Amino acid sequence: MESARLLKIILVLTLCLGLEAKEYTRCQLTRELLKNNLFPRTFLSNWVCLIEQTSDRNTSAFVEKSLRRKYYGLFQIGSEWCKEGKKGGKCDITCESLLDEDIKDDAQCAQRVFDLEGFKYWPKWEVRCKGQQLPDIEKCPDWVYIPSRASPPRDKRTLRGRRELRRARRHLKMNLLI
Ligand SMILES: *[C@@H]1O[C@H](CO)[C@@H](O)[C@H](O)[C@H]1NC(C)=O
Repeated sequence: MESARLLKIILVLTLCLGLEAKEYTRCQLTRELLKNNLFPRTFLSNWVCLIEQTSDRNTSAFVEKSLRRKYYGLFQIGSEWCKEGKKGGKCDITCESLLDEDIKDDAQCAQRVFDLEGFKYWPKWEVRCKGQQLPDIEKCPDWVYIPSRASPPRDKRTLRGRRELRRARRHLKMNLLI
């Protein structure tokens, strides 16, 4: 009886841990980023490079450099952007939410970091990605497959296209400033 309960607890714990941490392959990561339409395509290989260099594509990567300088998740977002235990920081999210498997909020926060500080926020992007050979994500099967499947109606498509173009331009401008 007692051991059955223990087994159940262990099972639940294992399941929880399994759900919390994930290490993507390059193409899985590309797929996730494409699926949620999280970044403009033009710069996706830069984001993939950044993630590979900063967190090894590990959604629960956590680095504590000091009490006030901690870095969370896939994008290794610093503690000034979030708050431990409750929503807060410059992204108005909990730091814990940057460590789970749901990468949508991570990406939204990373986009905000980018909008305010550019890729130069991530020193590893500057050293390992900027002007370097970027990951060849166009070889990933979803590069072609995802957009055609999620193809929106024509009017929405142009609207989204325009939004994406604006975003891409902003990206480009930031890139030139760096
Ligand atoms: C992912 O990061 C966490 C926290 O730093 C670490 O405990 C875990 O071992 C990493 N996973 C892999 C597969 O390296």
